[in-house]
Amino acid sequence: MNTLNDAVIVTGSASQLLAIRLARLLGVEVVPVSFKLFPDGELYIRFLSSLKERRVIIVQSTPPPQNSNLIELFFLINSALEQGAKEIIAVVPYLAYARQDKAFLPGEAVSGRYVCRMLKDCGADMVITVNVHNKRVFENVDIAFIDLNAMPLIADYFKKLPLKNPLVLAPDKGAVEEGTLVANLLNCPFAFLEKERNKYTGEIVTKEKDLDIEGRDIVVIDDIISTGGTMVNAVFMAVKQGARDVYVACVHPILVGDARLKILNAGAKDLIGTDSVPSDVSIISLAPLIASVLRS
Ligand code: R5P
Repeated sequence: MNTLNDAVIVTGSASQLLAIRLARLLGVEVVPVSFKLFPDGELYIRFLSSLKERRVIIVQSTPPPQNSNLIELFFLINSALEQGAKEIIAVVPYLAYARQDKAFLPGEAVSGRYVCRMLKDCGADMVITVNVHNKRVFENVDIAFIDLNAMPLIADYFKKLPLKNPLVLAPDKGAVEEGTLVANLLNCPFAFLEKERNKYTGEIVTKEKDLDIEGRDIVVIDDIISTGGTMVNAVFMAVKQGARDVYVACVHPILVGDARLKILNAGAKDLIGTDSVPSDVSIISLAPLIASVLRS
């Protein structure tokens, strides 16, 4: 039996393109929704067709402006519940606040966990994320979740490029698992850097390391690029040590301000990401990956 027979897709405003791609792959209808802002800035949402007894797949990533994208997601989930949806699956490729998965300093709000609790409390039966920064945010939250890995899609992209003696580089220890996977898929060596972020100022320092990469093409992989500071340091070190071409790839290209320019200025040849966050570098679509898990 096709489990998607009674499914519909609802798209939040942050993920329209991804939602349409997903709907086309799955052959599932996209429910029209009216979104408006009241004069004082409050959000109005109205579903324009019935969700009764439907399996509702809500697609809404939560990049900046993350607070309004999250509120939209919570309203969509809770409204779908109140309108009689029989199951609600929240597809949230980029889960905002997942980097605040614990209190790094005494007294800090563990906001990543609160977001997951709110998804549950609003009525989501399942959450699907992609390379969530830390799965720990779901700990002690009684909700089913699947975290998909987009690294094979990123590896497929680089397999098509004529890379010379490639090496995959993780710009910090947090990206070791992802970088190792891409290196294995590209059948090439892997190295990682060590980075420290000042917990008060946010300043990033990457330790000098001899990478032995003269003449090689380098692929620097991370889950998120936000300000670009982490990537700039890695690209700069690779270029300084004689790399041939340096490519930068991530799943979630948040790219705050001039992050893209800074990375390219540091010497990167290209920068690519996925449609988890829509942008002009989002050239890899997550739709086939998400579709395959929804089909199963
Ligand atoms: C954190 O460790 C993440 O994996 C990224 O490395 C980080 O969020 C990137 O942030 P930024 O671009 O601001 O350096």
